[in-house]
Amino acid sequence: MKGIILAGGSATRLYPLSKALSKQMMPVYDKPMIYYPLSTLMLAGIREVLIISTPRDLPMFRDLLGDGSRLGMTFQYVVQEEPNGLAQAFVLGADFLNGEPGCLILGDNLFYGQGFTAMLQHAKEQCKEKGACIFGYYVKDPRAYGVVEFDANCHVVSIEEKPENPKSQYAVPGLYFYDATVVDKAAKLKPSERGEYEITDLNKCYLEEGTLHVELFGRGFAWLDTGNCESLLEASNFVATIQNRQGFYVSCIEEIAWRNGWITTEHLHQLGLEHSNTAYGNYLIQLLH
Ligand code: G1P
Repeated sequence: MKGIILAGGSATRLYPLSKALSKQMMPVYDKPMIYYPLSTLMLAGIREVLIISTPRDLPMFRDLLGDGSRLGMTFQYVVQEEPNGLAQAFVLGADFLNGEPGCLILGDNLFYGQGFTAMLQHAKEQCKEKGACIFGYYVKDPRAYGVVEFDANCHVVSIEEKPENPKSQYAVPGLYFYDATVVDKAAKLKPSERGEYEITDLNKCYLEEGTLHVELFGRGFAWLDTGNCESLLEASNFVATIQNRQGFYVSCIEEIAWRNGWITTEHLHQLGLEHSNTAYGNYLIQLLH
């Protein structure tokens, strides 16, 4: 399976932070935000990744992440000229996917919790042949999100985008697994009232087809987004709290590449030595002990 990170948008709610800098490049504690969704794809075992961003910001992502070879991965880049909606990622990514299944993650979504890797593997398996897998996460106020309603067997009954009167408390996080038909389905979508190709409409295609699965994250799991200054600070504090307590880094992409067997121990050591004057570089080196 291949992965797509959508790191576009103008992030107006983060003004003036966002005036000259991509939101997904902003720090979440000690790493650029995009490291977190990238690490999620890596935990899903996805090695080929397409990064989509604005004409202004794409060169910066290329500078940050390169061609992926440092991590034993492959990165490609495509521009989204206008913020026309999440589902457009699959139209822009059609050549990249080349008829294979795809996983989309939003560049500002941060996931953390025990058992996550197993859930990702399961989601991937569920739609390898046919279908889609999305997630549900209980939130106090789901009105700003896609909202999924499901029955006792976790079968989806309905899914609505930013409803005024949500039918459940379960928001749909920005992490979606799709089979190989996703590009055709995305290409047939019509823009919504707000003028966007909605990911919720894409999910509805699978719902109508009877192949939409939903997996629920439990109470012990963290799904954070970083849309405004408060949530950005909360995400930073969350990462700092976990890291400083345990000593393990959250979403250290070099560590995950190494644990996945995508880079050798010597290579990890080298990456650490390149930044041995930083805590990050020293963390990579001490992993080897
Ligand atoms: C988008 C999706 C929404 C989803 C959310 C997750 O919302 O449209 O369905 O729940 O991401 O972060 P937007 O970022 O466009 O407000």
